[in-house]
Amino acid sequence: MSPSVKPSDGLGVLIAGLNGAVSTTFLAGVMAVRRGLATPVGSITQMQTIRLGNRSDEKFPFIRDFVPLADLKDLVFGGWDIRNENCFESAQSARVLHEKDLMGIKDELSEIRPYKGVFETKFSQRLSGLWTKQGKNKRDLSDRVREDIGNFKSSNRLKRAVIVWCGSTEIHLPLSSVHMSLSAFEKGLENNHPDISPSMIYAYASLMENVPYLNGAPNLSSDIPALMELAVLKGVPIAGKDFKTGQTLLKTVIAPMLKARMLGLKGWFSTNILGNRDGEVLDDPACFKTKEESKLSVLNGILQPDLYADLYKDHYHKVAINYYPPSGDNKESWDNIDIFGWMGYPMQIKIDFLCRDSVLAAPLVLDLVLFLDFARRRGLSGVQDWLSFYFKSPMQSPGMVVEHDLFIQHMKLKNTLRALMGEVPITHVEEPGEGFDVEKPATVTG
Ligand SMILES: NC(=O)c1ccc[n+]([C@@H]2O[C@H](COP(=O)([O-])OP(=O)(O)OC[C@H]3O[C@@H](n4cnc5c(N)ncnc54)[C@H](O)[C@@H]3O)[C@@H](O)[C@H]2O)c1
Repeated sequence: MSPSVKPSDGLGVLIAGLNGAVSTTFLAGVMAVRRGLATPVGSITQMQTIRLGNRSDEKFPFIRDFVPLADLKDLVFGGWDIRNENCFESAQSARVLHEKDLMGIKDELSEIRPYKGVFETKFSQRLSGLWTKQGKNKRDLSDRVREDIGNFKSSNRLKRAVIVWCGSTEIHLPLSSVHMSLSAFEKGLENNHPDISPSMIYAYASLMENVPYLNGAPNLSSDIPALMELAVLKGVPIAGKDFKTGQTLLKTVIAPMLKARMLGLKGWFSTNILGNRDGEVLDDPACFKTKEESKLSVLNGILQPDLYADLYKDHYHKVAINYYPPSGDNKESWDNIDIFGWMGYPMQIKIDFLCRDSVLAAPLVLDLVLFLDFARRRGLSGVQDWLSFYFKSPMQSPGMVVEHDLFIQHMKLKNTLRALMGEVPITHVEEPGEGFDVEKPATVTG
């Protein structure tokens, strides 16, 4: 199929962590939109326009009309979990969406049940694996996942699929030798290497089946040299990691503003309360460390303290997450930002964001699934740096420098879409004032 032609056949969306809050909120939303019961607020693929040519050309098509993305009606859902519930029951127990919104799609949601998950308690000590695969080694487990992918595609007559990790955050794992090359990783699967986590097994199976893989959590999963190598070898796109949804989204908006105006930063204290299962898992210090690293990385990347020592050197940055069951999925986050201006005079910014975690994450899952499927049809493989817009801790191809600034990420995403569709990227220097020629160096007269 030509990548410029809108696909008319189905696209499988297989989610590891199928019964979680993000996954079921995503599924419910897509189903409700398909039935005309909801609007896909927060989704760029469904709601945003893209400018083509000069501003004066007034060409602003919707991205969904400009890029040949899969249609929502063609998405077919499945996946894995370590508890055996149908997705309606799970969506009810997640307490994200109101009962009245779930009732409109109850029939469809109830039909979706998970395959048995790949699980190892060591990586998620707060969870019990009640619905899990058994195998003689990790290679065997990856073969079972590959069989599921094949069966899902054949029973739904699908040619294409995307796999998403929406599972609980795994414990912090530093890179080790088994992650560094495909041959070491494959040997590790045979030998049950302790540093190969369940999410890596799904990622490996996905790539071996030529299926794009997306990681929504902060754990490494496909973000290891071995699996990047496999993605390129197989010609499959991958993206991750850790959806940028609430507090970090705000951070990557405010920090670029401080830097654009050359305002200094003394300290940034971020804390929040969250009471869903994700919050409970992150209450385990080993899992929190994975999230903390992801959240901490953004400020230095944006502020470049080495270049701007007077403004940003030695700023204090603290991130805390507090499990508080009464909040459920409704996270409340506070930021105290100590900044300084002209002649060093101190000022403060205080933010109290009352957000809904899964409501913010669901449209990201949708966009990323559609973009990764498009990338695959367009022949792109390996890490998709242009999707960094969606992640707290964007994966990067070898040699690329990670970009955290939301506005640069947004421009990069749209310019990549323009380039992939044969349009000229927009630099914002067009339509200059009279006498201005971008090509010509400035000359001083008189
Ligand atoms: N909601 C957000 O705003 C947001 C933002 C960034 C990242 N995330 C990440 O997304 C992930 C999902 O978040 P959530 O709120 O849906 O969490 P959740 O706890 O509601 O759901 C996670 C699901 O994964 C399942 N699971 C755990 N280990 C598994 C395994 N090995 N195989 C298959 N299934 C497994 C659990 O049973 C559960 O159903 C988390 O890692 C979270 O940190 C969420």
